Order: sequence, then C-alpha cells, then structure tokens
Amino acid sequence: MSKTIIISNRLPLQLEIDNNSINTIPSVGGLATGMKSVHSGSDSIWIGWSGLTEEQLDDNKRILVKNALTKHQCVGVPLTSEEIDGFYYGFSNNTLWPLFHYFMEYTEFEKDSWNIYQSVNQKFADIVIENLDENDTIWVHDYQLLLLPEMIRKKKPNVTIGFFLHIPFPSYEVFRTIPCRKEILKGLLGADLVGFHTYDYERHFLSSAQRILGLEINFNNVQLDNRIVKVDSFPMGIDYQKFHDAATLHNEKEKQDQTEIQQKIDEHLADGDRAKLILSIDRLDYTKGIANRLRAFEYFLDKYPQFRGKARLVMLAVPSRSNVPQYQLLKNEIDQLVGRINGKFSEVSWTPIWYFYRSMPFENLIDLYTSSEVALLTPIRDGMNLVAKEYIASRVDKKGVLILSEMTGASKEMSEALIINPNNFEEIADTLKFALEMPEEEQIKRNTALQKRLKRYNVEKWAKDFMESLENTKTTAKKYSLK
Ligand code: ADP
Ligand code: G6P
Repeated sequence: MSKTIIISNRLPLQLEIDNNSINTIPSVGGLATGMKSVHSGSDSIWIGWSGLTEEQLDDNKRILVKNALTKHQCVGVPLTSEEIDGFYYGFSNNTLWPLFHYFMEYTEFEKDSWNIYQSVNQKFADIVIENLDENDTIWVHDYQLLLLPEMIRKKKPNVTIGFFLHIPFPSYEVFRTIPCRKEILKGLLGADLVGFHTYDYERHFLSSAQRILGLEINFNNVQLDNRIVKVDSFPMGIDYQKFHDAATLHNEKEKQDQTEIQQKIDEHLADGDRAKLILSIDRLDYTKGIANRLRAFEYFLDKYPQFRGKARLVMLAVPSRSNVPQYQLLKNEIDQLVGRINGKFSEVSWTPIWYFYRSMPFENLIDLYTSSEVALLTPIRDGMNLVAKEYIASRVDKKGVLILSEMTGASKEMSEALIINPNNFEEIADTLKFALEMPEEEQIKRNTALQKRLKRYNVEKWAKDFMESLENTKTTAKKYSLK
C-alpha cells in the first residue's frame, strides 16, 4: 500500500528530556499546526528533527525517543549540536529566513553554515530513501529543506515529489543576492510540483528560475531537459472546525474555566467599565513587527487619550530561535518597550499592556481569541499568518475586528479585515480607533464573509488541492513520456 511521506525540519511534536523520561510538547508555528491536521488520521509518516541533539542522548534515551516518535507515526533525523548550529541557527535562520523576508541587513552568508546545510539536507534525503516504498508520494516542507527534492530525485528519478514553501519567496532582485542561488533553484526543481501561499511568491520563483537558470517557462510550468515542474499557489487554510467548535464550547462554559488568563479577564470584567482587549499573538520574531506594533500602540494612546483606561493590548509572544542574536536583541527591545509604555500610561486600575512571553496551551489561545474585541497583527513580512485566520474562526458570535498587515499572505484572501501598512503608525492608530468604534452590524457583516471563505478553504482542502495537483503531474509526465 502506498503512503505519503511528509518531511519538515520540525516534527509536529518536540521532545524534551525530563530526568530519565521523555516529554512531548506540541510544536508551534504555522507549518506544524497546519500539517498536524493533515497528518493525523491519514496514512502518512512524518520525517523530521525531534528537537533533541545527539549529545543529549544515550542508547537508552534513543530507544525512548524512537518509541515516542513511532507512536505519532514520526521518524526522527538525528542531528548533532554542530549540525543544529550550522544548518538550523546558521544557514536556515541567519541566511534564508531574513533574506526571504526582505531583511537583507540581517542576512549573513557563511560558507561553513552552507556546507552543513547541504550535508544535513543529504542526511534527510538518505532517511527519506530508507523509508520509501514503491508508489509512495513525497511532500517536502519549507526553507530548511530547499535542496531535498533534487537530492531525492538523484537517487529515485521516478518518485513523485511535492514541495511547499511556508514563507515568502522574495522578488528576483532580492533572491539573486544569495551566492548559492543556482543550487537553491536546482534543489527545488527536483520536485514535480512547487507550491507557494500566494501568486506573487509563485511569480517571483518563476522569474528567478528564468533569469538565473535561463529556463523556459510556459505559463506556470518550468521546462527542464527531461521533465516539467509545475509551480502553483495554494493559500494554506486552518482547521476551521476545530477552532470554531472549541470557541463554541469555551463560550458555553466560560464562567467555569479558571485558566490564568480567564481569571485576569474575569477580574477585569468586574471593573464595570471594561477596557476592550486588543490581541496580538506571534512567535517572537522580527518579521512579525512586534516592536512596531508597540510603538504604534503608544502613538495611539498619545493621539487618542480618550482610549486610556478603555483599551488594553494583550500581547502574547512565544519564544523562538533564542540562540540567534537578532532574536535576543528583539526580546530586549520588546521588554524595554513594554516597560516604558506601561510606565508612561499605567493607572492604578489600568495597565495598557499585558505581556506574556511563553507558549500557551490551545485552551488559553481560544480564551484569548474569544475574549478580544480586536486582533492587531502587524507583520513586516509574513508568508501567510494563520493567527489571523484562527482569530476569525473563533469568533462564534461573528463580532470582533481583525486589523491585518498588507505584508502578510493572509491579507490577499481577507479583504474584509482592516488592512494596514505596518510601517505607518498614523494609519495603525486611526485604524485602531475605527476598529474599537465599529458598529456591531458591520463587524458581523465582515466576519460572516471571512468565516464563509475560511470554512470552505480549510487546511484539509488546501492539502487535498496540493495532493491532487501533485497527482496530476504524473499524468502530464506520462503523456509527454517524461521522467
Ligand atoms: P508562524 O508560522 O510564522 O509562526 P503563523 O501565524 O502562520 O506564524 O502560525 C503561528 C501558529 O502558532 C498558529 O497556529 C498559532 O496558534 C500558534 N501560536 C502562536 N503563538 C502561540 C503561543 N504563544 N502559544 C501557542 N501557540 C501559539
Ligand atoms: C515558521 C516556519 C516553520 C517553522 C516555524 C517555527 O512557521 O515556516 O518552518 O517550523 O516558523 O519556527 P522554528 O524555528 O521553531 O521551527
């Protein structure tokens, strides 16, 4: 029987050592949360890194790791701390991540990291091949594994390979600056289908393939000597029903829930003159525009003092990539900004910002989504932004206003949200005022349209479309006797 092999750097679960046992915690990030729903209940295996380095394991723990992963139909790729430094912190997050998000000033290119990136991609390829049976379909994910399709293709020329990029593909002018641009394009073109969140990213990739490799492009197909590679956009959806149902349940037993955030919100509700909640949720990442958001909120409180005591920013940031210097600097900057703004505006009965720096269990996310009148998401660049979709799906009563950066992939499908330029504080401040004062009928009208679209194009449909399109590449290949 054939199966799908999902491959990404992060598995849907991360392992942690707790004395002599292994704990599993769910992974955070759009890729993991999205693909988790595709993986569960399907006949697939997922290959990736467990989150532990080889140095942390002995023979006994290795067995525990294997068992923990097997339970979730996962296969681990063993990585040493040197590999993690070069491949993950180095080339993936110090070179590709900033470059693909247009942060050229943060982009470093180090030959050693590039070498390790190549060897780790080869390690992934070898493990994929060990687990590959005839007629299996391979689905590779994200920027950590750009070379994998070509590496697998070299050993298994006839296998069907799909690749999906979860972050933006930058314009040719930006992409061309990376020294190993040819290797990256060739790596991706080992796939039969290369998918992106938006049409813009797709065009940027095609333009780079044409201009850097001199390849012929027919509509959205790249012509290679003996194969055609299809390139298309598939905007990733969410597990709409999961969020909607959880929010419904949450609303029903709201008063009994005594989670930490709920307690705070309840205390706050008792104030009588309740401040409206403005929600901000992201991984702590410079692409997310968190510092900008704080400055814009400060500007808003300066410009519209009537909202002091009447609105509060609830900011949730999940720790991410804390070994990369830019992330450490950002953490300090945010700590300082939060302290300064709270110091500047706080009153005895009101603090302008509640800041949480940690990962939250699903129930707490739902608490926040359902309790906040406004969601303020201001990434400087973001491939998609699933938080925007999760917020709307959780608004069971259809009330609530989403303010969303035009630099996110999600903004292309969510035109009923209030779309802002994340660099324009004036616009953010005015939009916040507009959102906080928006009549309920208008909120309901906008969210009805948004929910309808999110419900129809959910993560299941996204995966199905991608897999069907990948399946169709087999027919094209046969028709033209290619591969
Ligand atoms: P990215 O993939 O860049 O992290 P997305 O918005 O696409 O951004 O996806 C983020 C995912 O991580 C969402 O599914 C969201 O629910 C989850 N998430 C974000 N912040 C937290 C947090 N503090 N605790 C738990 N999950 C979080
Ligand atoms: C984004 C990326 C994913 C990544 C996730 C979390 O969603 O597209 O590939 O897994 O962020 O980042 P991390 O570095 O912790 O895996």
